[in-house]
Amino acid sequence: MEAIITRRSVRSYEARKIDKKLVDLLANAMNAAPSAGNLESRHFYFVLDEGMKKKIASCCSERQRERIASAPLIVVACADEKENRYGERGKNLYSIIDVSASVENLLIAAHSLGLGGVWVGAFEEEKVREALSVPSYLHPITLVPLGYPAEKPMPHEKKEMKKIFTFIE
Ligand SMILES: Cc1cc2nc3c(=O)[nH]c(=O)nc-3n(C[C@H](O)[C@H](O)[C@H](O)COP(=O)(O)O)c2cc1C
Repeated sequence: MEAIITRRSVRSYEARKIDKKLVDLLANAMNAAPSAGNLESRHFYFVLDEGMKKKIASCCSERQRERIASAPLIVVACADEKENRYGERGKNLYSIIDVSASVENLLIAAHSLGLGGVWVGAFEEEKVREALSVPSYLHPITLVPLGYPAEKPMPHEKKEMKKIFTFIE
């Protein structure tokens, strides 16, 4: 609960590299997420190479580029439409949920390890595909730059609970 409640999107990072052991823990946390039919319709690129990070960052809006490139790690999270036995629903919905479940695990695990990251949905999918030679059955859904936080974001005001939840008692 502590990690879930205190996690914030972190968009500014120290230059310090992330230890390989921690990188592996992050990958394990992503892998542990639930998945529709346990098909694991997802694939993740862990980009640590400086040149490739710059290329990936250049696929984002100019406003975000510099800070994304400065992250020691960028995860490119892709939905896998090949791993599918649920037709259109599997392709257009479950694979994206599979990715999202892993990304949430990633962000919470990162926070619990003293790291921070942010979901970046605003990027040009085709440019990322080209940069990483992503095969056609994979769809980049989000980028997640991660590193040691160089900022301490304040919590957002949330909507009133009653606007989001309906309790049927
Ligand atoms: C699908 C999705 C896409 C997002 N895309 C971006 C983005 O492109 N750039 C960004 O800075 N934050 C992005 N965010 C992060 C949200 O702005 C952030 O989660 C929200 O403001 C709540 O803040 P918190 O994560 O600190 O609780 C995205 C979040 C989600 C779930």
